[in-house]
Amino acid sequence: MIVLGIESSCDETAAAVVDNGRNVLSSVVYSQIELHQPYGGVVPEIASRSHVEKISGIISSAMIQAFGNGSEESIDTSWWNKLDAVAVTYGPGLASSLIVGLSEAKGLALRIGAPLIGINHVEAHIHSVFLSSGAPEPAEIFPYLALVVSGGHSCLIEVTALNTCSIIGQTLDDAAGEAFDKAAKMMGLGYPGGPVIDKLARSVDCRSTIDFPKGRPRAGNPILGGLDADLCVSFSGLKTSLMYYLKKNPPADNAEVAAIIASYQEAIVDALAQRCSIALLRGNYKALAVGGGVSLNSRLRERLTAVSQAAGVPVLLAEPRFCGDNAAMIAGLACMGAGVTGAEAMELDVVPSLAAGS
Ligand code: KG4
Ligand code: ZN
Repeated sequence: MIVLGIESSCDETAAAVVDNGRNVLSSVVYSQIELHQPYGGVVPEIASRSHVEKISGIISSAMIQAFGNGSEESIDTSWWNKLDAVAVTYGPGLASSLIVGLSEAKGLALRIGAPLIGINHVEAHIHSVFLSSGAPEPAEIFPYLALVVSGGHSCLIEVTALNTCSIIGQTLDDAAGEAFDKAAKMMGLGYPGGPVIDKLARSVDCRSTIDFPKGRPRAGNPILGGLDADLCVSFSGLKTSLMYYLKKNPPADNAEVAAIIASYQEAIVDALAQRCSIALLRGNYKALAVGGGVSLNSRLRERLTAVSQAAGVPVLLAEPRFCGDNAAMIAGLACMGAGVTGAEAMELDVVPSLAAGS
């Protein structure tokens, strides 16, 4: 089954062609980071306008890379017949960004006579681990635990079968990526914060010299909504704690900036690793799968590898090019039979707060 995937949930416009759920024939991502950099975060109006400008060109590039012989500059219309379906993210994400991808996908599916498949973006991040050639088949590792950590999401998900998953833990406030981005903004390190903090933290000898709060929500907190506090995180206190620390101890030089931010990163990584460890020891999981932009973090990758080893299960980390938002994960998951299909798909509207497993 060959599927064209389209992704526009936040600030990346992406299209990809995937064969049989695992074989990526093309994956094209246009990142809007430079457009949002002056504002220190994603501006929804700028994001949706840029998606409108870029989306058809990105889809053409993905088709040319997948089916061309390297010399074509435009699509051969016969290539559309090679597609068995068009898959698109319909949530969660920014409404004004999602709508651009969904409308484009509906129009394209109608025009070329291919079925449309609506995909959940967070569930697709989990599928990104299966896009590596050495990864097992999803069916070989059910039930498994998945951690999705990005600029908009931080959740622990139990995956028991194809199309069957449920959230067992999540952040009660800021997503892990947001915690990185907000700290970088506070310290004037630029946007996005994750990559620069990761690099700075690698430059210090001691990982944690400042004792920042470890992001543990209190049991009984009504925001938990029935979830176990031991599997949830809260990063808003950490961010506030950094703000007070900086007021009291303004860093005198780059070495002090690096030391502070390394301790801050360690608090985020520690919180996530600890929740994964608890979940792995409690459940009977066959693997830990990790996706989302924050899963690029070198310290998090190190800690999650150690946590999985201790629990006796393999850790599946997405390839760097599939950690952040991309459309290969959308097309790939659709190939596996997931998502909203049939007449219902053509009726889909965007669902900005769509949860995994819903
Ligand atoms: O998955 P993604 O590309 O987009 C969303 O769906 O949000 O994730 C973007 C997030 C940003 O918050 C960025 O700071 C973070 O991923 N990020 C990192 C690293 N690279 C990107 N966070 C920590 N360490 C990194 N190396
Ligand atoms: Zn994402």
